Amino acid sequence: MKGNKILVTGGLGFIGSHTVVELQKEGYEVIIIDDLSNTRIEVLDGITKITNIRPEFVKLDLKEKEAVASFFKEHKIDGVIHFAASKAVGESVENPIKYYENNIATLVYLLKNMADNNVPHLIFSSSCTVYGQADELPITENAPVKRAESPYGNTKQIGEEIIHDLTKVNDITAIALRYFNPIGAHDSVLIGELPLGVPQNLIPYVTQTAAGLREELSVFGDDYLTPDGTAVRDYIHVVDLAKAHICALQRLLEGKNKTKMEYFNVGTGTGSSVLDVINVFQKVNDIALKYKIVDRREGDVTSAYANTKLANEELGWKAEFGLEEALRSAWQWQLKQV
Ligand code: UD1
Repeated sequence: MKGNKILVTGGLGFIGSHTVVELQKEGYEVIIIDDLSNTRIEVLDGITKITNIRPEFVKLDLKEKEAVASFFKEHKIDGVIHFAASKAVGESVENPIKYYENNIATLVYLLKNMADNNVPHLIFSSSCTVYGQADELPITENAPVKRAESPYGNTKQIGEEIIHDLTKVNDITAIALRYFNPIGAHDSVLIGELPLGVPQNLIPYVTQTAAGLREELSVFGDDYLTPDGTAVRDYIHVVDLAKAHICALQRLLEGKNKTKMEYFNVGTGTGSSVLDVINVFQKVNDIALKYKIVDRREGDVTSAYANTKLANEELGWKAEFGLEEALRSAWQWQLKQV
Protein backbone atom coordinates (compact mmCIF):
# COMPACT_ATOMS: atom_id res chain seq x y z
CA MET A 1 0.00 0.00 0.00
CA LYS A 2 1.15 3.48 -0.77
CA GLY A 3 3.19 5.15 1.92
CA ASN A 4 4.51 1.91 3.36
CA LYS A 5 8.23 1.85 3.95
CA ILE A 6 9.92 -1.02 2.19
CA LEU A 7 13.47 -2.18 2.79
CA VAL A 8 15.15 -3.42 -0.38
CA THR A 9 18.35 -5.32 0.35
CA GLY A 10 20.66 -5.41 -2.64
CA GLY A 11 18.58 -2.55 -4.02
CA LEU A 12 21.40 -1.27 -6.23
CA GLY A 13 21.81 -4.60 -8.00
CA PHE A 14 20.33 -5.63 -11.34
CA ILE A 15 16.89 -6.82 -10.25
CA GLY A 16 16.89 -4.74 -7.06
CA SER A 17 17.33 -1.40 -8.84
CA HIS A 18 14.51 -2.11 -11.30
CA THR A 19 12.28 -3.13 -8.40
CA VAL A 20 13.07 0.08 -6.49
CA VAL A 21 11.90 2.06 -9.52
CA GLU A 22 8.59 0.17 -9.66
CA LEU A 23 8.07 0.52 -5.90
CA GLN A 24 8.59 4.27 -6.09
CA LYS A 25 6.23 4.52 -9.05
CA GLU A 26 3.57 2.81 -6.95
CA GLY A 27 4.06 5.30 -4.13
CA TYR A 28 6.06 3.20 -1.70
CA GLU A 29 8.80 4.76 0.37
CA VAL A 30 12.02 2.84 -0.26
CA ILE A 31 15.09 2.36 1.84
CA ILE A 32 17.94 0.50 0.17
CA ILE A 33 20.75 -1.34 1.84
CA ASP A 34 23.58 -2.60 -0.33
CA ASP A 35 27.24 -3.38 0.35
CA LEU A 36 28.20 -2.32 -3.21
CA SER A 37 30.15 -5.58 -3.62
CA ASN A 38 28.71 -6.26 -7.06
CA THR A 39 27.39 -2.91 -8.26
CA ARG A 40 28.16 0.81 -8.36
CA ILE A 41 26.86 3.70 -6.29
CA GLU A 42 25.96 5.52 -9.55
CA VAL A 43 22.96 3.20 -9.85
CA LEU A 44 21.38 5.40 -7.17
CA ASP A 45 21.59 8.36 -9.56
CA GLY A 46 20.06 6.25 -12.33
CA ILE A 47 17.08 5.38 -10.14
CA THR A 48 16.70 9.00 -9.07
CA LYS A 49 16.73 10.23 -12.67
CA ILE A 50 13.99 7.79 -13.64
CA THR A 51 11.62 8.47 -10.73
CA ASN A 52 12.67 11.94 -9.56
CA ILE A 53 12.82 10.53 -6.05
CA ARG A 54 16.14 9.72 -4.42
CA PRO A 55 15.63 6.60 -2.30
CA GLU A 56 17.20 6.50 1.13
CA PHE A 57 20.42 4.50 0.93
CA VAL A 58 22.51 2.89 3.67
CA LYS A 59 25.75 1.15 2.77
CA LEU A 60 25.60 -1.95 4.84
CA ASP A 61 26.93 -5.48 4.63
CA LEU A 62 24.34 -7.89 6.00
CA LYS A 63 27.17 -9.96 7.49
CA GLU A 64 27.77 -7.15 9.97
CA LYS A 65 25.43 -8.52 12.59
CA GLU A 66 25.51 -5.59 14.99
CA ALA A 67 25.16 -2.95 12.30
CA VAL A 68 22.13 -4.81 10.93
CA ALA A 69 20.56 -4.93 14.41
CA SER A 70 21.11 -1.17 14.84
CA PHE A 71 19.64 -0.53 11.40
CA PHE A 72 16.41 -2.30 12.32
CA LYS A 73 16.22 -0.45 15.64
CA GLU A 74 16.55 2.88 13.85
CA HIS A 75 14.07 2.29 11.01
CA LYS A 76 10.43 1.38 11.04
CA ILE A 77 10.00 -1.02 8.14
CA ASP A 78 6.71 -2.41 6.80
CA GLY A 79 8.16 -5.07 4.52
CA VAL A 80 11.41 -6.40 3.09
CA ILE A 81 12.33 -7.40 -0.44
CA HIS A 82 15.52 -9.37 -0.09
CA PHE A 83 17.83 -9.43 -3.11
CA ALA A 84 21.24 -9.13 -1.47
CA ALA A 85 23.11 -12.33 -2.29
CA SER A 86 25.97 -13.69 -4.36
CA LYS A 87 24.85 -15.27 -7.61
CA ALA A 88 27.71 -16.73 -9.64
CA VAL A 89 27.15 -20.46 -10.00
CA GLY A 90 30.76 -21.34 -10.87
CA GLU A 91 32.23 -19.25 -8.07
CA SER A 92 29.90 -20.95 -5.60
CA VAL A 93 31.37 -24.33 -6.55
CA GLU A 94 34.90 -22.98 -5.98
CA ASN A 95 34.06 -21.16 -2.77
CA PRO A 96 31.03 -22.69 -1.07
CA ILE A 97 31.69 -21.07 2.31
CA LYS A 98 31.45 -17.62 0.75
CA TYR A 99 28.01 -18.56 -0.60
CA TYR A 100 26.72 -20.07 2.62
CA GLU A 101 27.96 -17.03 4.54
CA ASN A 102 26.77 -14.39 2.04
CA ASN A 103 23.44 -15.99 1.23
CA ILE A 104 22.48 -18.02 4.30
CA ALA A 105 24.13 -16.45 7.38
CA THR A 106 22.90 -13.04 6.23
CA LEU A 107 19.37 -14.34 5.66
CA VAL A 108 19.34 -15.67 9.20
CA TYR A 109 20.40 -12.29 10.63
CA LEU A 110 17.84 -10.53 8.48
CA LEU A 111 15.04 -12.82 9.63
CA LYS A 112 16.08 -12.56 13.26
CA ASN A 113 15.89 -8.79 13.05
CA MET A 114 12.58 -8.89 11.22
CA ALA A 115 11.17 -11.13 13.96
CA ASP A 116 12.67 -9.07 16.81
CA ASN A 117 11.30 -5.83 15.35
CA ASN A 118 7.91 -7.10 14.15
CA VAL A 119 8.57 -6.52 10.47
CA PRO A 120 5.72 -8.56 9.02
CA HIS A 121 6.40 -9.31 5.34
CA LEU A 122 9.19 -10.72 3.21
CA ILE A 123 9.65 -11.25 -0.52
CA PHE A 124 12.54 -13.62 -1.19
CA SER A 125 14.56 -13.89 -4.44
CA SER A 126 14.47 -17.54 -5.28
CA SER A 127 15.25 -19.25 -8.55
CA CYS A 128 13.95 -21.84 -10.98
CA THR A 129 17.23 -23.58 -10.25
CA VAL A 130 15.40 -25.24 -7.31
CA TYR A 131 13.60 -27.48 -9.84
CA GLY A 132 16.80 -28.73 -11.53
CA GLN A 133 15.79 -30.57 -14.70
CA ALA A 134 12.07 -30.80 -14.06
CA ASP A 135 10.31 -33.95 -15.24
CA GLU A 136 7.44 -32.01 -16.78
CA LEU A 137 7.40 -28.82 -18.82
CA PRO A 138 6.26 -26.13 -18.40
CA ILE A 139 7.27 -26.18 -14.75
CA THR A 140 4.60 -25.65 -12.11
CA GLU A 141 5.23 -24.67 -8.51
CA ASN A 142 4.29 -28.22 -7.51
CA ALA A 143 7.26 -29.71 -9.34
CA PRO A 144 9.56 -31.32 -6.80
CA VAL A 145 12.61 -29.44 -5.58
CA LYS A 146 15.61 -31.44 -6.79
CA ARG A 147 19.01 -31.80 -5.23
CA ALA A 148 20.92 -28.61 -6.04
CA GLU A 149 23.70 -28.77 -8.64
CA SER A 150 25.71 -25.99 -6.96
CA PRO A 151 26.14 -24.29 -3.59
CA TYR A 152 24.47 -21.23 -5.13
CA GLY A 153 21.39 -23.28 -6.01
CA ASN A 154 21.50 -24.88 -2.60
CA THR A 155 21.41 -21.46 -0.89
CA LYS A 156 18.12 -20.75 -2.69
CA GLN A 157 16.61 -24.06 -1.55
CA ILE A 158 17.87 -23.72 2.01
CA GLY A 159 16.79 -20.07 2.07
CA GLU A 160 13.23 -21.06 1.19
CA GLU A 161 13.25 -23.73 3.90
CA ILE A 162 14.56 -21.40 6.58
CA ILE A 163 11.90 -18.82 5.78
CA HIS A 164 9.21 -21.49 5.73
CA ASP A 165 10.27 -22.75 9.17
CA LEU A 166 10.13 -19.24 10.57
CA THR A 167 6.70 -18.46 9.16
CA LYS A 168 5.38 -21.55 10.98
CA VAL A 169 6.18 -20.12 14.39
CA ASN A 170 6.03 -16.40 13.77
CA ASP A 171 3.63 -13.77 12.40
CA ILE A 172 5.83 -13.16 9.38
CA THR A 173 4.32 -13.90 5.97
CA ALA A 174 6.55 -14.52 2.98
CA ILE A 175 6.55 -15.11 -0.74
CA ALA A 176 9.41 -16.79 -2.59
CA LEU A 177 9.56 -15.70 -6.21
CA ARG A 178 11.26 -18.34 -8.32
CA TYR A 179 12.80 -16.36 -11.15
CA PHE A 180 13.47 -17.89 -14.52
CA ASN A 181 16.19 -16.05 -16.52
CA PRO A 182 16.06 -12.26 -15.96
CA ILE A 183 17.47 -10.18 -18.82
CA GLY A 184 17.19 -6.74 -20.39
CA ALA A 185 17.31 -3.24 -18.97
CA HIS A 186 15.04 -0.33 -18.13
CA ASP A 187 13.91 1.45 -21.31
CA SER A 188 15.37 4.72 -20.02
CA VAL A 189 18.75 2.94 -20.29
CA LEU A 190 19.65 4.51 -16.94
CA ILE A 191 19.85 1.18 -15.10
CA GLY A 192 20.72 -2.33 -16.26
CA GLU A 193 22.97 -5.29 -15.56
CA LEU A 194 26.57 -4.60 -14.55
CA PRO A 195 28.45 -7.90 -14.76
CA LEU A 196 31.91 -7.82 -13.21
CA GLY A 197 34.66 -9.46 -15.25
CA VAL A 198 33.85 -12.11 -17.83
CA PRO A 199 30.10 -12.67 -17.87
CA GLN A 200 28.89 -16.16 -17.06
CA ASN A 201 25.32 -15.58 -18.17
CA LEU A 202 24.26 -15.73 -21.79
CA ILE A 203 22.86 -12.26 -22.46
CA PRO A 204 25.74 -10.15 -21.11
CA TYR A 205 28.11 -12.42 -23.03
CA VAL A 206 26.07 -11.88 -26.19
CA THR A 207 25.99 -8.09 -25.82
CA GLN A 208 29.70 -7.88 -24.96
CA THR A 209 30.56 -10.02 -27.98
CA ALA A 210 28.42 -7.85 -30.25
CA ALA A 211 30.19 -4.81 -28.80
CA GLY A 212 33.59 -6.32 -29.64
CA LEU A 213 34.62 -6.73 -26.01
CA ARG A 214 34.65 -10.53 -26.39
CA GLU A 215 36.00 -12.41 -29.37
CA GLU A 216 33.19 -14.89 -29.85
CA LEU A 217 30.25 -16.39 -28.01
CA SER A 218 30.51 -20.07 -27.11
CA VAL A 219 27.21 -21.91 -27.39
CA PHE A 220 27.35 -24.60 -24.74
CA GLY A 221 26.15 -27.74 -26.51
CA ASP A 222 23.99 -28.42 -29.57
CA ASP A 223 23.18 -32.04 -28.75
CA TYR A 224 20.38 -31.47 -26.26
CA LEU A 225 17.01 -33.06 -26.85
CA THR A 226 15.43 -29.78 -27.92
CA PRO A 227 14.12 -28.64 -31.33
CA ASP A 228 17.46 -27.17 -32.44
CA GLY A 229 19.74 -29.05 -30.04
CA THR A 230 20.61 -26.05 -27.85
CA ALA A 231 19.35 -25.60 -24.29
CA VAL A 232 16.03 -23.89 -23.67
CA ARG A 233 15.28 -21.24 -21.04
CA ASP A 234 12.53 -18.79 -20.15
CA TYR A 235 14.02 -15.31 -20.52
CA ILE A 236 12.06 -12.66 -18.67
CA HIS A 237 12.43 -8.91 -19.02
CA VAL A 238 13.75 -7.50 -15.75
CA VAL A 239 11.05 -4.80 -15.67
CA ASP A 240 8.34 -7.48 -15.80
CA LEU A 241 10.17 -9.35 -13.06
CA ALA A 242 10.41 -6.18 -10.95
CA LYS A 243 6.66 -5.68 -11.25
CA ALA A 244 6.02 -9.20 -9.94
CA HIS A 245 7.63 -8.09 -6.67
CA ILE A 246 5.15 -5.25 -6.30
CA CYS A 247 2.22 -7.63 -6.86
CA ALA A 248 3.64 -10.08 -4.32
CA LEU A 249 4.23 -7.35 -1.76
CA GLN A 250 0.73 -5.95 -2.22
CA ARG A 251 -0.69 -9.43 -1.72
CA LEU A 252 1.02 -9.72 1.67
CA LEU A 253 0.23 -6.17 2.77
CA GLU A 254 -3.45 -6.73 1.94
CA GLY A 255 -3.45 -10.13 3.62
CA LYS A 256 -4.56 -11.88 0.44
CA ASN A 257 -2.05 -14.69 0.79
CA LYS A 258 -3.52 -18.17 1.24
CA THR A 259 -0.73 -19.60 3.36
CA LYS A 260 1.98 -17.99 5.45
CA MET A 261 4.59 -18.83 2.86
CA GLU A 262 3.83 -19.00 -0.83
CA TYR A 263 5.88 -19.77 -3.92
CA PHE A 264 5.42 -18.37 -7.41
CA ASN A 265 7.19 -18.94 -10.69
CA VAL A 266 8.11 -15.74 -12.44
CA GLY A 267 8.71 -16.32 -16.13
CA THR A 268 7.06 -15.63 -19.44
CA GLY A 269 5.93 -19.20 -20.06
CA THR A 270 7.85 -19.32 -23.35
CA GLY A 271 10.98 -21.37 -23.85
CA SER A 272 13.74 -20.04 -26.11
CA SER A 273 16.85 -21.90 -27.18
CA VAL A 274 20.33 -20.39 -27.22
CA LEU A 275 20.11 -20.23 -31.03
CA ASP A 276 16.72 -18.49 -30.76
CA VAL A 277 18.36 -15.88 -28.56
CA ILE A 278 21.21 -15.39 -31.03
CA ASN A 279 18.85 -15.10 -34.00
CA VAL A 280 16.42 -12.72 -32.33
CA PHE A 281 19.30 -10.60 -31.00
CA GLN A 282 20.81 -10.28 -34.48
CA LYS A 283 17.48 -9.51 -36.07
CA VAL A 284 16.10 -6.90 -33.67
CA ASN A 285 19.41 -5.10 -33.32
CA ASP A 286 20.52 -5.55 -36.90
CA ILE A 287 23.96 -6.69 -35.86
CA ALA A 288 25.99 -9.82 -36.55
CA LEU A 289 27.14 -12.00 -33.69
CA LYS A 290 30.15 -14.28 -33.89
CA TYR A 291 29.55 -17.62 -32.24
CA LYS A 292 30.73 -21.22 -32.23
CA ILE A 293 29.33 -24.43 -30.81
CA VAL A 294 31.35 -25.96 -27.98
CA ASP A 295 30.77 -28.75 -25.44
CA ARG A 296 27.97 -28.59 -22.92
CA ARG A 297 28.61 -26.65 -19.70
CA GLU A 298 28.57 -28.83 -16.61
CA GLY A 299 25.49 -28.46 -14.46
CA ASP A 300 23.26 -26.99 -17.21
CA VAL A 301 19.78 -28.41 -17.59
CA THR A 302 18.26 -29.14 -21.01
CA SER A 303 15.10 -27.14 -20.73
CA ALA A 304 13.36 -24.93 -18.19
CA TYR A 305 10.35 -22.69 -18.72
CA ALA A 306 7.56 -21.68 -16.43
CA ASN A 307 3.93 -22.50 -16.11
CA THR A 308 2.80 -19.03 -15.07
CA LYS A 309 -0.84 -19.83 -14.29
CA LEU A 310 -0.47 -19.46 -10.54
CA ALA A 311 1.30 -16.10 -10.76
CA ASN A 312 -1.20 -14.90 -13.38
CA GLU A 313 -4.21 -15.87 -11.32
CA GLU A 314 -3.07 -15.29 -7.74
CA LEU A 315 -0.70 -12.35 -8.14
CA GLY A 316 -2.64 -10.81 -11.01
CA TRP A 317 0.69 -10.51 -12.78
CA LYS A 318 1.70 -11.38 -16.31
CA ALA A 319 4.86 -10.71 -18.31
CA GLU A 320 4.19 -7.98 -20.85
CA PHE A 321 7.46 -8.00 -22.78
CA GLY A 322 8.81 -10.69 -25.06
CA LEU A 323 12.31 -11.75 -26.01
CA GLU A 324 12.55 -9.10 -28.73
CA GLU A 325 12.00 -6.14 -26.41
CA ALA A 326 14.27 -7.63 -23.78
CA LEU A 327 17.13 -8.20 -26.23
CA ARG A 328 16.67 -4.75 -27.73
CA SER A 329 16.93 -3.13 -24.30
CA ALA A 330 19.94 -5.31 -23.38
CA TRP A 331 21.75 -4.04 -26.49
CA GLN A 332 20.81 -0.40 -25.86
CA TRP A 333 22.19 -0.78 -22.35
CA GLN A 334 25.43 -2.32 -23.65
CA LEU A 335 25.86 0.58 -26.07
CA LYS A 336 25.81 2.98 -23.13
CA GLN A 337 28.63 1.21 -21.31
CA VAL A 338 32.17 2.47 -21.86
C1 UD1 B 1 22.05 -19.52 -14.25
C2 UD1 B 1 21.88 -20.30 -13.01
C3 UD1 B 1 20.61 -19.88 -12.32
C4 UD1 B 1 20.64 -18.40 -12.07
C5 UD1 B 1 20.81 -17.70 -13.40
C6 UD1 B 1 20.88 -16.20 -13.25
C7 UD1 B 1 22.22 -22.72 -12.67
C8 UD1 B 1 22.38 -24.03 -13.38
N1 UD1 B 1 21.92 -21.69 -13.42
O1 UD1 B 1 20.99 -19.90 -15.13
O2 UD1 B 1 20.44 -20.55 -11.13
O3 UD1 B 1 19.46 -18.02 -11.46
O4 UD1 B 1 22.01 -18.15 -14.01
O5 UD1 B 1 22.11 -15.76 -12.80
O6 UD1 B 1 22.38 -22.66 -11.50
N2 UD1 B 1 25.07 -20.22 -22.43
C9 UD1 B 1 25.87 -20.35 -23.55
N3 UD1 B 1 27.01 -19.58 -23.60
C10 UD1 B 1 27.38 -18.72 -22.62
C11 UD1 B 1 26.54 -18.59 -21.49
C12 UD1 B 1 25.40 -19.37 -21.42
O7 UD1 B 1 25.59 -21.11 -24.46
O8 UD1 B 1 28.44 -18.08 -22.73
C13 UD1 B 1 23.82 -21.01 -22.35
C14 UD1 B 1 23.74 -21.91 -21.15
O9 UD1 B 1 24.29 -23.16 -21.43
C15 UD1 B 1 22.24 -21.97 -20.93
C16 UD1 B 1 21.74 -20.60 -21.41
O10 UD1 B 1 22.76 -20.09 -22.23
O11 UD1 B 1 21.65 -22.94 -21.74
C17 UD1 B 1 21.50 -19.64 -20.26
O12 UD1 B 1 22.64 -19.59 -19.44
P1 UD1 B 1 22.79 -18.55 -18.23
O13 UD1 B 1 22.47 -17.19 -18.71
O14 UD1 B 1 24.12 -18.78 -17.60
O15 UD1 B 1 21.61 -18.95 -17.26
P2 UD1 B 1 21.28 -20.37 -16.58
O16 UD1 B 1 22.43 -21.27 -16.61
O17 UD1 B 1 19.99 -20.83 -17.15
